[in-house]
Amino acid sequence: MQQNNRAQFATRLGVVAVTVGSAVGLGNIWRFPYEAGVNGGGAFLLLNLFFVFVIGVPVMCAEFVIGRHTGSNVRSAFRRLAPGSAWSLVGYIGITASILILSFYSVVAGWTMEYIYRSLTDFCGIRSATALHDRFDTFASSNWRPVMWTLLFLLCNYAILARGVEKGIEKVSNILMPLLFIILIAFCINSLFMPDAGKGLSFLFRPDFSQLTPKSVLSAMGQAFFSLSLGLGCLITYASYFSRRTPLMKTAFLTASLDSFVAIMAGVIIFPAVFTYGQEPAAGPKLVFEVLPAIFAEMPLGALWSTLFFLLLFLASLTSTISMSEISIACMCDDLGMKRRNATRLNIGIAMAFGTLCALSFGCLGGVRVFGMTLFNLFDYVSSNVLLPLGGMLISIFAGWRLNHAVLKGELDATSRGGRIFLRILIFCMRYVAPPCILIVFLAGIGVL
Ligand code: PHE
Repeated sequence: MQQNNRAQFATRLGVVAVTVGSAVGLGNIWRFPYEAGVNGGGAFLLLNLFFVFVIGVPVMCAEFVIGRHTGSNVRSAFRRLAPGSAWSLVGYIGITASILILSFYSVVAGWTMEYIYRSLTDFCGIRSATALHDRFDTFASSNWRPVMWTLLFLLCNYAILARGVEKGIEKVSNILMPLLFIILIAFCINSLFMPDAGKGLSFLFRPDFSQLTPKSVLSAMGQAFFSLSLGLGCLITYASYFSRRTPLMKTAFLTASLDSFVAIMAGVIIFPAVFTYGQEPAAGPKLVFEVLPAIFAEMPLGALWSTLFFLLLFLASLTSTISMSEISIACMCDDLGMKRRNATRLNIGIAMAFGTLCALSFGCLGGVRVFGMTLFNLFDYVSSNVLLPLGGMLISIFAGWRLNHAVLKGELDATSRGGRIFLRILIFCMRYVAPPCILIVFLAGIGVL
């Protein structure tokens, strides 16, 4: 069913690098520590891993199968597989979620740009929790500066996206991802030698289930979807550029493992420092931006490490936002016949408008609350905890129940004996575990159950 003239990623390594490039980003290094901090640490991590492997991997395989089999963007993939049905709604859920995420994500990526700039120009080596706290608040509430960085970040996206899939995305990912891994490992080792490393590690690894509420279970599931870039058709779109030789199950498993590994490393970097420098684990979205500078302040050549770290974080965010934008750009180019450049302009233009609102919600729009949340938090909550799980559930039901079984098995193609056992478990999870589990966690989390 795949179209022959569609662009494809050039190499095996390229496929893994772009998929991991999409998955690894602020979700692991910024969002995971802050969500774990708010939701009690160890128990959150354990639940998150459960959701990543028992629900995330099957949903990821489902996205890969749908994407590669149809060779289409998220909207027309469902239109081709189930013409005239309501399934194409999944495509619209995905497009909406991608734009909401792109908007608030760009704000945080903009913060990383501010921190790169500061590390270069005015590295002051502060360690005191209150001083770091004030510094962040003054910046985030200053209105024009966060907005400027948000818009600048989106312009960087534009520059890469307009060049197309192979030239832009694959090259950037191939170089960046390995570099990010190396520097994260170095920082982990540094954190392990901090005076209160033990407290930080036991916060992260010792589960205390009495802390869990249905809401935090939903957050752990939302985090799994967010971090794996699942539920919005991002991986359907990317898989449409995969070649027939790409082993889908292995790629999914590898992506989920690397992604979780990076999140855990981020936790190992952050929590020892939180306790050593007397910070608050439940500080919310600003956690990482207040804790990391304290770590750099203690290091020899702090300004250099700080620049390097935020630079890599910025680049990792770029590979993620590129994959978000690609969802709607692919739809606009394939289905509406738009030129790639114009589609990119429209996508980035909308994100600029929403992104500005999100950036201002730490400043002059701070008083605007919807369901008690600022616009930034609302965009984050609705996308991660509502739209992604909903999309993921529908994708899993579609692949498990509606898609031709021979197609599913053919695409997943298990050759070894172990592979066939794994395939059985995977299809079982896709059909019987993921959909009800997502539904129950979602309903309980929003207080309906
Ligand atoms: N997974 C990315 C991250 O962890 C975020 C993302 C979400 C990317 C949805 C694409 C789609 O940073």
